Amino acid sequence: MLKNLDFISEGELTNWVNSHLDSDEFALSAGYQGKTLLFNEHQHKLVIKAPLGNFITRPINLALLRHEHKVYQKLQGMTSIPICYGMANNEFLVIEFIEGQTIRQKRPPTNSEYFKKLLIAVKEMHQRKVAHFDLKRSENLLVTDNDEPKIIDFGVSIIRKPGLHWFNQYLYKLAMQFDYNAWARHKYYKQMDFLSDEDKPYYQKTKIEIASKKIKRFYKDRFLKLFQSLKSFK
Ligand SMILES: Nc1ncnc2c1ncn2[C@@H]1O[C@H](COP(=O)(O)OP(=O)(O)O)[C@@H](O)[C@H]1O
Ligand SMILES: [Mg+2]
Repeated sequence: MLKNLDFISEGELTNWVNSHLDSDEFALSAGYQGKTLLFNEHQHKLVIKAPLGNFITRPINLALLRHEHKVYQKLQGMTSIPICYGMANNEFLVIEFIEGQTIRQKRPPTNSEYFKKLLIAVKEMHQRKVAHFDLKRSENLLVTDNDEPKIIDFGVSIIRKPGLHWFNQYLYKLAMQFDYNAWARHKYYKQMDFLSDEDKPYYQKTKIEIASKKIKRFYKDRFLKLFQSLKSFK
């Protein structure tokens, strides 16, 4: 039974998903891991995330969706998080559709209420023992028609386990820092020289980020050199 969904039964919704999974007509996005569909009937809009893959990869993708469901359960009631209605037939994640645009399509100004509210939301998420880990991706941050922030896509989020779990603790701390760094990067549009004194404590590059940047630069330089030598060879 799906929570708070009274205009359609779980069985009907499951049938709808199964009959539209193969077409692109209702797809919001599609990848190897899964497909995100927009259900738009009976004057209601829902987002439905379905797992894809073969007999080996589908169970993994289904487990990731169930993990995302668990994260949504921890975050229910937060204004910056869409309502989650549950898992239809234990396999499809059903979420409220947010009318709006991604932060890339509609850029809120640096000193807008949007970024204040987003920071409050990130802090509350962390209080509820969830770190998003993928906020850097601008597709995962929505701006509603009233300019409110909404955070989506908790596929790789980390839930802090109670008790002593050193690896979970390490990952969770890293993910929390990633969240703050992503918030600061979005707020300043990557122009970190403009970071205010008040915001400085939030932005701390982690060793992993510094290393991955170095690796990227290394390959970029090599690629450019190769490209230039090929050009001069012509
Ligand atoms: N609740 C939502 N409201 C509106 N659009 C959404 C919602 N959830 C997802 N989308 C759209 O679908 C896309 C894919 O969803 P997402 O949860 O990010 O899936 P994936 O795990 O494939 O990245 C998003 O980038 C966004 O454009
Ligand atoms: Mg996404």
